[in-house]
Amino acid sequence: MLKPSYPLYLAGQPLETGRRLPVTDKYSGAIATEVALADRTLVEQAIAHAAAATRPMAELPAYARQAVLEHCVQRFQQRADELAMALCIEAGKPIRDARGEVTRLIDTFKYAAGEAVRLTGDYLPLDISARAHGYWSVIQRVPVGPCAFISPFNFPLNLAAHKIAPAIAAGCPFVLKPASSTPVGALLIGEILAETALPAGAFSILPCAPADAEPMIRDARIKLLSFTGSPAVGWDIKARAGHKQVILELGGNAACIVDADADLDDAVQRLIFGAFYQSGQSCISVQRILAHRSIYAALRERLVAATRSLVCGDPRDERTFVGPLIAEREAIRLAEWIEAAIARGARLLCGGERHGALMTPALLENVPRDCELYACEAFGPVALLAPFDDFEAALDEVNDSRYGLQAGVFTRDLHKARRAWNRLEVGGVVIGDVPSFRVDHMPYGGVKESGLGREGVAWAIEHLTEPRIMVVRTPPR
Ligand code: SIN
Repeated sequence: MLKPSYPLYLAGQPLETGRRLPVTDKYSGAIATEVALADRTLVEQAIAHAAAATRPMAELPAYARQAVLEHCVQRFQQRADELAMALCIEAGKPIRDARGEVTRLIDTFKYAAGEAVRLTGDYLPLDISARAHGYWSVIQRVPVGPCAFISPFNFPLNLAAHKIAPAIAAGCPFVLKPASSTPVGALLIGEILAETALPAGAFSILPCAPADAEPMIRDARIKLLSFTGSPAVGWDIKARAGHKQVILELGGNAACIVDADADLDDAVQRLIFGAFYQSGQSCISVQRILAHRSIYAALRERLVAATRSLVCGDPRDERTFVGPLIAEREAIRLAEWIEAAIARGARLLCGGERHGALMTPALLENVPRDCELYACEAFGPVALLAPFDDFEAALDEVNDSRYGLQAGVFTRDLHKARRAWNRLEVGGVVIGDVPSFRVDHMPYGGVKESGLGREGVAWAIEHLTEPRIMVVRTPPR
């Protein structure tokens, strides 16, 4: 169960503000808890505290940064059931997926704890020509300074962790705004961080209205802004961010190729997971399935049967595979996209029935490429099937998207796998599985409208630090 209310964290301290943000249970719609809400003044104070913590954080030794992260790992393990239930309630995430997210949260912090003591440097001889005779250098990576983080609703713990844990490992103070619909996960991380010896001001976690978060985007003291969320919001934020480094983890309409030699039972099982787990609310959810014509009918038949067998409903029920979408308006939007595609000639194979915020998982075929359902990010339990005859043409079709986050390819042909890896315009190609696969130390991020930069602990640390060289001249003897 959730507590009746949660404080926010300003400069590492819990704070009640007198302004409350209600958080609903996404399945019942009832108010489940309330969290303290920050206004613009508090956001500005948090930035000032983060700026003041720049040097103490940069000077915190590696073993101390590691100890903070290890403390979090230990406390997450102790509080795993509570964390999973918080996700289940505030995000409507089926309890089995919620437990999986807690496991990944622990992985992310555990890996970051290791990285905190693995930040090394380089020795670079400089005598490449006579003019640099007697010069040599060493390069260390130094933290960029205060960061602003905006995290999304679909993984309230682990996608906040992907910003917080690398920042601590790198020695950067930060201000984080969690999604307004799911602020509890990040505040629970804050509660645990407040038990540690991080320097004063090193972190603030502030639920607030988007307009009040504006200083996080515009303030020049913030050196790096990392946003995970929708492409429209992400690119708009970047346009307002001034000179700071911007990392964007945005969405996509991920595709998966199933070639003629695929093991169909295995592919079906993975496609069902990739398309429908946590109601398709993942940026790498399988949205487009391209199947070789020789296996198309058989795959379609098995996919429809497997999709119809999925249990939809109460996310607290251990059997539930598909819970509610984050809000009824999202289910309504998706139902409208499905209707519009059907009006243009698409065939609904199963699902697509809406009950409030719940939608039964839907499979369609023959969806025109310029329909929103095909061309935009569905972010819901829907997958679109299409046949292909030629592997190269299927690769072109995957690339026929404004997005490029990850793609999956079921093939046993090494040369086709290599070809897909070379030709697909995405941040990651997954062979023998769906694009939805992610382990938390992988480089993760997109090209085209799917984003900028990479997360995945060490890859995020690369952005959170910059090289500083020390050049040494040896005087002539
Ligand atoms: C996302 O939705 O971008 C994150 C997916 C994941 O971490 O599995």
